[in-house]
Amino acid sequence: MRGSRRLLVTGGAGFIGSNFVHYWCEAYPDDRVVVLDALTYAGNRHNLASLEGQENFRFVKGDICDRALLDSLLQEENIDTVAHFAAESHVDRSILGPGAFIQTNIVGTFTLLEAFRKHWETRQEGIFLHVSTDEVYGSLNPSDRAFTETTPYAPNSPYSASKAGSDHLVRAYYHTYGVPTIITNCSNNYGPYQFPEKLIPLMCINILIGKSLPVYGDGQNIRDWLYVGDHCSALDVVIHHGKLGETYNIGGNNEVKNLDLVNMLCQLMDELAPNLPVHSCKKLIAFVKDRPGHDRRYAIDSTKLKTELGWTPSVTVEEGLRRTVEWYLTHRDWWEPLLSEEYQAYYHQVYVS
Ligand code: NAD
Ligand code: TYD
Repeated sequence: MRGSRRLLVTGGAGFIGSNFVHYWCEAYPDDRVVVLDALTYAGNRHNLASLEGQENFRFVKGDICDRALLDSLLQEENIDTVAHFAAESHVDRSILGPGAFIQTNIVGTFTLLEAFRKHWETRQEGIFLHVSTDEVYGSLNPSDRAFTETTPYAPNSPYSASKAGSDHLVRAYYHTYGVPTIITNCSNNYGPYQFPEKLIPLMCINILIGKSLPVYGDGQNIRDWLYVGDHCSALDVVIHHGKLGETYNIGGNNEVKNLDLVNMLCQLMDELAPNLPVHSCKKLIAFVKDRPGHDRRYAIDSTKLKTELGWTPSVTVEEGLRRTVEWYLTHRDWWEPLLSEEYQAYYHQVYVS
C-alpha cells in the first residue's frame, strides 16, 4: 500500500489500543486514525484527550457488534487498515461472567470480519490486523519450550477460549475468502493507561492507597512481560511488512514469577514514592486463594518476528517497571476515578467473597 493510511482502531480507548493510537499518530501524522470503542468499564476517553480536535483523528463511540455502524464507518472513512484491539480482556471477569466475552470477542470479531470482507471486496486492498494473546496456547510446565506460532491451541479460561475462537475465524477468512488478515499473539503487556484490575496497576495502586497486595496461590506463576510501547512498535512492523495470512508471536523475553514481580514493584515504590501509607510496602503482600484454572506459565518465542521482520523488544523489565511506577505515581488523577463503586463491587467478588 502506498501513501498515507486510513486506520480503523477498534478498542482504541483501552489500554493497548490507546497506547497504539498515540504511537501511530506521532509516528505517522499524515495517516487518518478513526477509533471505534464502546467505552465499556475498560474504555476511557481521557486516554485519548490530547488527540481530540486534531484533524486526522476521530473518535466514535460504538459497538463492534453493530454491523450497520461498521459498514458506514468503513465506507465513509474509506478505511484500508483495521487494527482490531476491542475485546473483553480480563481473565478474572471471564470466570465471573463469560457471556460478554463470547459476545464481543467472538460475535464482535465475526461481525467486524464480515463488514471488512464486504468492504474489501470492492477495493481489493487493505489489511485486517487481529491483536490476540499468547493465552490461546494454554499453560507451560517449567521445562517446556516457549510458545511458537505452531504451538497447538489449548485455551484454559473463557477469556482465552473466546480469543482462540476469534483467531480461528480470522484465519478462516484469509483461507476461505482471501481477506488480507494477520494475527499477532502477544504476551502480558504493562505500562501507562492499564486498567487497575490487571496485576501491575492493581499492585501499584494498592501500594499507593495502603491496601493489601493479593498474590494468587503460591505466587510462582510465570508471565512473559512486554512493555506496551514495544508491543506498539511490533504492530507497526507487522502492519507495514507482515505477510498476509501469517501469525506472529510478540514477547518480551522477560519471564518473571508473580511474587518476584510484586517484590520488584514494592522495591521501586519504596524508592520512588514519598509518604507511602505503609512502608516498606512488602508488608502489604498477602497470599490469597488461587484463580480457578490458573495457567502456570506463559513464555513467547518471537524468533519469527525477529528473523523475518527484524523486531526485538527494546525495554527491559527493570526499565519498563520503573517507567510504569513513575506513571502511576504521577497520574493519580487518571486512576482515582476508576476506583468506582462498580470497581469496588468487582474487587469484592474476586478478592473477598
Ligand atoms: P482493555 O480491556 O484495556 O481494552 C479493551 C477496549 O475495548 C476498551 O476500550 C473497551 O471499551 C473496548 N471494547 C470492549 N468491548 C467492545 C465492543 N463490543 N465494541 C467496541 N469496543 C469494545 O484491553 P487491552 O489490555 O488494551 O487489550 C487489547 C487487546 O489486546 C485485546 O484484544 C486483548 O485480548 C489483547 N491482548 C492484551 C494483552 C494484555 O496484556 N493486556 C496481551 C495480549 C493481547
Ligand atoms: P493478569 O494481569 O490478570 O494477566 P493474565 O491473567 O492475563 O496473565 O495476571 C497476571 C498474573 O498475576 C496471573 O498469573 C495472575 C496473577 N495475579 C495475582 O496474583 N493477583 C492479582 O490480583 C491479579 C490481578 C493477578
